[in-house]
Amino acid sequence: MSKQLDVLVIGGGPGGYVAAIRAAQLGFTTACCESNPYADPKGEPRLGGTCLNVGCIPSKALLHTSHLFHEAGHAFAEQGITVGTPDIDVPKMIARKAKIVDQLTSGIKGLFKKNKVTLLSGHGSFVARTEAGWQIKVGEEVVEAKQVIVATGSKPRHLPTVPVDNKIVCDNVGALDIHAVPKKLAIIGAGVIGLEMGSVWRRLGAEVTILEVLPDFLAVADVDVAKEAQKVFTKQGLAISLGVKIGEITATDAGVSIAYTDKAGAEQKLEADRVIVSIGRIPNTDGLNAEAVGLKLDGRGMVEVDGHCRTNLPGVWAIGDVVRGPMLAHKAMEEAVMVAEIMAGQAGHCNFDTIPYVIYTSPEIAWVGKTEQQLKAEGVAYKAGRIPFLANGRALGMGEPTGFVKMLADTKTDRILGVHIIGANASELISEAVVAMEFGGASEDLARICHAHPTLSEAVHEAALACDKRALHF
Ligand code: FAD
Ligand code: NAI
Repeated sequence: MSKQLDVLVIGGGPGGYVAAIRAAQLGFTTACCESNPYADPKGEPRLGGTCLNVGCIPSKALLHTSHLFHEAGHAFAEQGITVGTPDIDVPKMIARKAKIVDQLTSGIKGLFKKNKVTLLSGHGSFVARTEAGWQIKVGEEVVEAKQVIVATGSKPRHLPTVPVDNKIVCDNVGALDIHAVPKKLAIIGAGVIGLEMGSVWRRLGAEVTILEVLPDFLAVADVDVAKEAQKVFTKQGLAISLGVKIGEITATDAGVSIAYTDKAGAEQKLEADRVIVSIGRIPNTDGLNAEAVGLKLDGRGMVEVDGHCRTNLPGVWAIGDVVRGPMLAHKAMEEAVMVAEIMAGQAGHCNFDTIPYVIYTSPEIAWVGKTEQQLKAEGVAYKAGRIPFLANGRALGMGEPTGFVKMLADTKTDRILGVHIIGANASELISEAVVAMEFGGASEDLARICHAHPTLSEAVHEAALACDKRALHF
């Protein structure tokens, strides 16, 4: 007889492993199947998905090391510290990153044990509907589950004309595993990966050129933030060409040649040692056998779900990168908890309007809620408060005067509609705005809250005061 489960989660990324843990905590007999090709030393698939293995965590480890390297070479002297010319041992940097990945992925196995989640090794695919639920093939075994959560994530979108070998032509996997600083690095796509990975290798000394199809830089961010970011990144040495059309790409063992048409319509050629293709990601539904059971996908191949992550099939849910919404680990985890709690008869909650976005460049970029251009397009009457970090004592002490906090609030109700930060520690500062917005807070609420001095958070406080034209320090 096949294994009988209350819940089977397909995919062990941040969506899947969190869903499995929460479902087990709520008393369901739960298993999670994972077919990740990056096996651990025991030969089991690694948990953690894109995020832990080839995404959030390894990229932030490299961003941190390269930031320290850059600080040692450029910022120390200004503060009177002499260290000589810093050198970078790239294999050591990569080994440190790999160790962090190992530690965290094996930590999730520990969490599975603690919460009594069974790990099933193998690719999961739908077989049939049964009276009690669903039959799923995992590897060679067929299991039965009353409820199924599809959390199969996403994979990088590639250019149709050039195969990725992750040596010369890299996606995110190869970009995180380069063992020597390339002299010239080309990046296609000035999105989040392009900017983060471009920053890593630029700081370590590569000549980085980023080719972006859209005419505007970082169009998803608030227009003022995007403008400031473009200025700062260009000054850091990232050569960013907007409005390009990529032509033929020829890759050899020695490097890559990229033909493209620039914004003005002129034919150009870029020669580089490597190229990173970071032009977005596509949902992972390969081999899920969705069609056999009638699981509905949308036009982009994502599993179609409602606001509570219910699919068109009873007892089948889908969460994370494989469904609509931003492809972010914390969004996947929120949906995971929501689904497990709804399955247990609880309310379940995921507020898609307060999901924070962060780009871990230097300075960092973070936002929540609406951008100014969105509010204009929607015809919402708003007021804005903007405070530069140049007016913040802590930022000056840290040698981080770049950037600003911008708060947007409803003219009539004062409710906070969006907060946009470019500056040091923006990734942490944004949490205050998320909390305020989650509680339906007004700019006056933040303005009347005491903020420790001297902290970067005072810039958030001042931006709230500035919404009412009563900033005290600017
Ligand atoms: P995934 O993490 O993709 O996990 C899906 C898992 O399912 C995989 O392990 C896969 O092997 C498995 N799987 C697929 N199909 C099957 C099947 N049929 N059977 C069994 N297993 C299957 N997000 C952030 O929030 N912050 C960041 O800083 C950040 N940085 C990133 C940096 C990079 C370079 C990249 C590429 C992404 C980054 N992301 C970041 C995005 C984040 O990684 C994803 O949003 C997140 O991993 C999505 O989680 P998920 O569980 O939906 O899918
Ligand atoms: P992205 O969507 O952020 O950026 C892709 C960029 O490539 C866009 O600017 C797009 O206009 C451009 N592009 C598309 N086709 C192109 C073409 N043919 N030629 C040139 N440019 C082209 O996607 P990216 O950077 O690949 O990252 C994938 C996803 O992973 C992100 O959307 C995000 O959800 C997640 N991620 C999140 C991070 C974070 O939260 N800090 C870090 C890295 C990734």
